[in-house]
Amino acid sequence: MVFVSAAAGAVGSVAGQVARKLGATRVIGSAGGPVKAEKLVRDFGYDAALDYRAGDLPGQLAKAAPDGIDVYIDNVGGDHLQAAIGAIRPHGRIAMVGMISGYNTPVPGPDNLFLAASREATLRGMLVTSYFHLFPDWIGQAAGWLADGTLRTAETVVESLDNTAAAFLSVFEGANTGKMLVRLPG
Ligand SMILES: NC(=O)c1ccc[n+]([C@@H]2O[C@H](COP(=O)([O-])OP(=O)(O)OC[C@H]3O[C@@H](n4cnc5c(N)ncnc54)[C@H](OP(=O)(O)O)[C@@H]3O)[C@@H](O)[C@H]2O)c1
Repeated sequence: MVFVSAAAGAVGSVAGQVARKLGATRVIGSAGGPVKAEKLVRDFGYDAALDYRAGDLPGQLAKAAPDGIDVYIDNVGGDHLQAAIGAIRPHGRIAMVGMISGYNTPVPGPDNLFLAASREATLRGMLVTSYFHLFPDWIGQAAGWLADGTLRTAETVVESLDNTAAAFLSVFEGANTGKMLVRLPG
């Protein structure tokens, strides 16, 4: 059982699909709003989607994963990390990839961290730059999945270099699905 936050974003939309390909039996994603939540299931192969804007994230997670989660891929931090720690199963693993909920405004840390100890969970920070040596393997693998249609990606394209700052800031409001890109005049 794998849970991914910011699951309609660039990292999250791919992470859930790769988790499935690597053997996850059930993949749950969270995103902001019903449209994105629906897209997680329809386009990105998630089994269940949580709309964190609808509230009660721990309750939604418990409903989608009544026996808890084995893996959490954290792109958000804050309330999502707290909910995931609350649901983590013994010896579960949490990949700390990003914490976008706290980049602009500090958010309180999880108040249930001792559960990570009592459930002997692993929380591990991950930086993409430490894995550049695996890029050739990944590109070979992902190119095949893209070609056969079993890996689906999305892009949100904003026109003009002038809109770069606005495009960047809009990511914090969830304006993007998949990778946020700025198209330069050609
Ligand atoms: N460790 C690394 O090497 C590494 C590398 C690249 C990126 N990252 C991190 O990984 C995460 C995802 O990056 P990405 O490039 O794929 O971005 P992204 O997911 O394409 O865009 C960020 C998404 O986060 C969601 N979001 C924004 N504020 C939120 C909040 N307060 N609570 C919950 N969700 C919120 C929004 O989606 P909703 O509409 O669903 O709210 C937004 O679309 C980010 O935290 C980023 O900093 C880490």
